[in-house]
Amino acid sequence: MNITYSVIPETEVICIKELVNGLMSYQKSVASIHPEFFDGMSFDTRIPPALKSARFNHIIIARDGDEVVGYAYSTIADKKIYSGGFATLQCDAFFDFDSVEGEEIGSLSQFYIKDGYRNTGIGSRLYEMSMDWLKSFEEIKDIFIFVSNGNENALRFYLNKGFKESHKILEGFITVLRNI
Ligand SMILES: CC(C)(COP(=O)(O)OP(=O)(O)OC[C@H]1O[C@@H](n2cnc3c(N)ncnc32)[C@H](O)[C@@H]1OP(=O)(O)O)[C@@H](O)C(=O)NCCC(=O)NCCS
Repeated sequence: MNITYSVIPETEVICIKELVNGLMSYQKSVASIHPEFFDGMSFDTRIPPALKSARFNHIIIARDGDEVVGYAYSTIADKKIYSGGFATLQCDAFFDFDSVEGEEIGSLSQFYIKDGYRNTGIGSRLYEMSMDWLKSFEEIKDIFIFVSNGNENALRFYLNKGFKESHKILEGFITVLRNI
């Protein structure tokens, strides 16, 4: 296994299509609360709108040779894009806007390592690179991660990295994690 890491431009985002769809299937497979919410989620419904609505996008991929085996997608975006739902979901605000000092937040929005490559440190490397990028925006104090229900591995991973559980939304479909 010879893993290399690179930041890709938005024009090359198609190379993570299979992995994005893999992430949606994985999340659906472990969810017990509203697993059907994932039915409308795919690369096509999630990635192009997300790239458009964020002010800055950051996509890092991990490759084993030529094969893309993992990705982390982070954004800097206006907090108000989380007001009437997010992605394909409709709901009230994802979090209390008054609890965020500035107008924008950072988010580790999507994160996926292909089965067979997990638990070998690839995710930690992508996580650190993502956090370095998010923290390079000095004015951004608040970083969010939204974890869907049933994904206990991911939840443990983020808590071990220092994120804190804030609250649940969408009847427990999503747990909101924050850095502060
Ligand atoms: C969550 C996820 C991204 C983590 O990626 P990963 O590559 O497995 O992460 P790592 O290997 O760096 O760390 C995983 C665990 O292995 C341990 N680990 C780290 N390096 C290791 C190594 N070299 N050898 C063995 N274990 C290692 C870590 O301590 C970590 O333990 P923890 O979760 O109890 O903290 C990955 O499991 C995944 O893609 N899951 C499915 C999709 C998903 O849940 N995405 C997140 C959506 S919010």
